[in-house]
Amino acid sequence: NELDVVCFQVLLGDVGAGKSSLVLRFVKDQFVEFQESTIGAAFFSQTLAVNDATVKFEIWDTAGQERYHSLAPMYYRGAAAAIIVFDASFERAKKWVQELQAQGNTNMVMALAGNKSDLLDAKKVTAEEAQTYAQENGLFFMETSAKTAANVKEIFYEIARRLPRV
Ligand code: GTP
Ligand code: MG
Repeated sequence: NELDVVCFQVLLGDVGAGKSSLVLRFVKDQFVEFQESTIGAAFFSQTLAVNDATVKFEIWDTAGQERYHSLAPMYYRGAAAAIIVFDASFERAKKWVQELQAQGNTNMVMALAGNKSDLLDAKKVTAEEAQTYAQENGLFFMETSAKTAANVKEIFYEIARRLPRV
């Protein structure tokens, strides 16, 4: 089908921000309280119907541990889209945005996910601050929860909607 689109995508962000949990929710509709820290990277795929197209996401879930940082370009180099995930601290997310703007694909669709929205008191960054940052830097922002599934499908859907050809 000529309306089918493959979207290579990468998830980046701090250790424990919930990258693997978001992917697991999206791909298997599951959540685990004690998700193991990712080693290197893990690969997933999932399809989503968007308008008249079927978008096949080919997703690299990277490891947030700093010692794997040097591997990241292998995963974002070919990516058409990225989700930058943060929970408590926003600083690492900003660094990833800068790195992608400098070294990622031009026209990369970028989403900023403020994850763990179910844990409201743990939030140190207000949604407004993240929203403003996103607007100024050409991303879109959503608060997500892998635990409750809030906005998980929606963030992938919005990425798909913003891809060229969809
Ligand atoms: P690395 O692989 O080490 O980079 O971490 P990660 O970003 O993949 O985080 P991971 O998905 O492993 O989640 C870390 C912990 O946070 C796990 O214990 C998850 O259960 C928990 N977690 C993830 N997302 C959520 C969420 O939306 N809400 C709550 N309450 N906990 C979450
Ligand atoms: Mg992980």
